[in-house]
Amino acid sequence: MVNDPFERAAVFGAGLLMAAFFVAVTVGAFGLGIRVPTCVTDLPPFDQPAQVEVAPGQYVVNVVAQMWAFNPREIRIPVGSTVTFNVTSKDVQHGFFIVGKNVNLMAVPGVVNRISARFDAPGEYLIVCHEYCGLGHHAMSAKIIVEPRAAGAPAPALAAAPAYWAR
Ligand code: CUA
Repeated sequence: MVNDPFERAAVFGAGLLMAAFFVAVTVGAFGLGIRVPTCVTDLPPFDQPAQVEVAPGQYVVNVVAQMWAFNPREIRIPVGSTVTFNVTSKDVQHGFFIVGKNVNLMAVPGVVNRISARFDAPGEYLIVCHEYCGLGHHAMSAKIIVEPRAAGAPAPALAAAPAYWAR
């Protein structure tokens, strides 16, 4: 039982403040539609990482790294293609290194790192994680298959400007 008038006022004030906070949170969430920040990997295009052809010979690949795989796991493009990689991570910091190309990025949670590369030689390019990320780190890889051009087919034109985003 509270008898002191100051104590009574303090308890009443605290209750009032709690009620005001509750109203503010409720109005913010349901009235104004304010949501807490979410993970970049829960949002498009990273909720469904994929390879997209944005123009002839030009691709955007949205890559999500996670323990211990890359998604997509296999990228298939015709020779002469330019690929823009948007790379992020679902869990911890990973590496994104393409063997034989000048591509070397970190895959960082909450961050999108981007690089473009042109693949003029057919063959298989290994993508490896080169940042220690736990027990399966050594097995974390993906590959790019650059397919040779059919005989007589014209070389793809150089893209004017890289396309950054695509689904
Ligand atoms: Cu992922 Cu090492």
